[in-house]
Amino acid sequence: MSTPSSYFDEMYRGAEDPWHLAERWYEHRKYDLTVASLPRRRYRSCFEPACSVGELTLRLAERCDRVLACDRVAPAVETARARTAGLPQVTVARHVLPGEWPEGSFDLVVLSELLYYFDEPTRDEVLARAVDALEPAGTLVAVHWNHPVPEHLATGDELAPVLAALPGLARVVDHREDDFVLQVFERLGADGGPGPGLAAREGLV
Ligand SMILES: C[S@@+](CC[C@H](N)C(=O)[O-])C[C@H]1O[C@@H](n2cnc3c(N)ncnc32)[C@H](O)[C@@H]1O
Repeated sequence: MSTPSSYFDEMYRGAEDPWHLAERWYEHRKYDLTVASLPRRRYRSCFEPACSVGELTLRLAERCDRVLACDRVAPAVETARARTAGLPQVTVARHVLPGEWPEGSFDLVVLSELLYYFDEPTRDEVLARAVDALEPAGTLVAVHWNHPVPEHLATGDELAPVLAALPGLARVVDHREDDFVLQVFERLGADGGPGPGLAAREGLV
């Protein structure tokens, strides 16, 4: 069974930012690594589910023409909205995944600290929707805490091979630390092959 909604509601009842995402250097460094790993300078349209208080959203907004961020918990949505209020390219909505996956396609989908809350069938549905929603050559990012937690159904090292086995994606980044795993994938083109690498796109090779 996936981590129940009551867990998240309870977390936000106790604190506006229950994981201290807006203040911890650990989180800021990880968010900076996440956006530094994006292989494209600019993105047209990003989907960032589970945005919590919007700390990663603020960084994604610097690289994207549009960001749709969402969270399942209303107070988190309100906080993220307030923190991104000056950024017209950002929309924050309340959506519970996977059932309320938004319409449309994206060239960037960011699954940061989310997948370990899902049981296997739900996780697989979220991943299938993420790949389906990605445009050809679009970027999928996945980041996961790597230590056991009672409310987590998997660690980063356990999730990494699941993502690596997804059809239709080529891996661009596989960054491992003891504390977290960060992977970046590119959606294969219509011909089923990987696009040129970044150095080739920049004329370096
Ligand atoms: C640990 S926080 C991660 C926040 C942020 N993505 C980050 O990387 O720091 C997990 C967030 O996922 C949200 N969440 C959990 N399950 C969700 C679901 N099924 N749909 C949407 N949001 C969900 C929670 O409400 C919580 O805000």
